Amino acid sequence: MVRGTITGTIGRNGQMRDFNEHNITQAVIDRFAGTPDARLKRVMNSLVTHLHDFVRDVEPSFAEWEAVISFLTRTGQMCDDKRQEFILLSDTLGVSMLVDALNHRMPAGATETTVLGPFYVNAAPVFENGADISGGMVGELLFVEASVAGADGKKLAGATVDVWQSDDDGFYDVQRPELKESALRGRFRTDGEAKTWFRTILPAAYPIPYDGPVGDMLKATNRHPWRPAHVHFMISSPGYETLVTHVFVAGDQYLDSDAVFGVKNSLISEFPEHPPGRMPDGVVSTEPWRLLSYDFGLKPL
Ligand SMILES: [Fe+2]
Repeated sequence: MVRGTITGTIGRNGQMRDFNEHNITQAVIDRFAGTPDARLKRVMNSLVTHLHDFVRDVEPSFAEWEAVISFLTRTGQMCDDKRQEFILLSDTLGVSMLVDALNHRMPAGATETTVLGPFYVNAAPVFENGADISGGMVGELLFVEASVAGADGKKLAGATVDVWQSDDDGFYDVQRPELKESALRGRFRTDGEAKTWFRTILPAAYPIPYDGPVGDMLKATNRHPWRPAHVHFMISSPGYETLVTHVFVAGDQYLDSDAVFGVKNSLISEFPEHPPGRMPDGVVSTEPWRLLSYDFGLKPL
């Protein structure tokens, strides 16, 4: 080959040299040719192809590329066991919901999924049905009752139901360092009738954490950080795909502009108001209360 052509130069030992904007992509892909794992090889080829196309499209200056590196560095440095800035980045770019959509083509009868979000804690306290998970947080009393079935209609007794939610000010417990114990999260099991129920408070809409690099991105692009009020559920039962979803409060002002693109119509529920009196489990409330009643369906494995 003639030195300086756009196809690059093959050296005496067969190496490619003289890379330029036209030939470097294939050269990098070729460098991964010996990848033993076929899936990893496909992923690396696609990553290089799309990343290079992105750079060719944007033509970043050196200063801009340094800003990209700095942004990703700060994103990583923002992460600890309670703050996951990379999940926020994935969420706000719509990637989390795209991955979710590709992996959850759900059959009829199965509840739709949405993002896990950054506030799930694996070691949530275990409660008996009927318990109060508010942890002393003040807000409108909410009674939650849920049933769990397979998409085939089979009732799933003994299913594990993890719940977590924001408080009346829109904060999760992990965002309140003053709390000694967890609040507004817990793990339940469905009873013999495949039902679970508990007391809590009405969740509030909240902004995703925007004091970090993801917040900088939202500010620079005139995007708001708000998520409509919701209760998170993660439900598992042997033989079924674990369901990760939310139930959103109908009427919330952010349902159509969720910062992380997580809202689906089937996941919006009325939380009707009730006067003081008997709640579904027979306990009498002396204060007004709201009701969330939802039937979940799990996809068979
Ligand atoms: Fe949330």
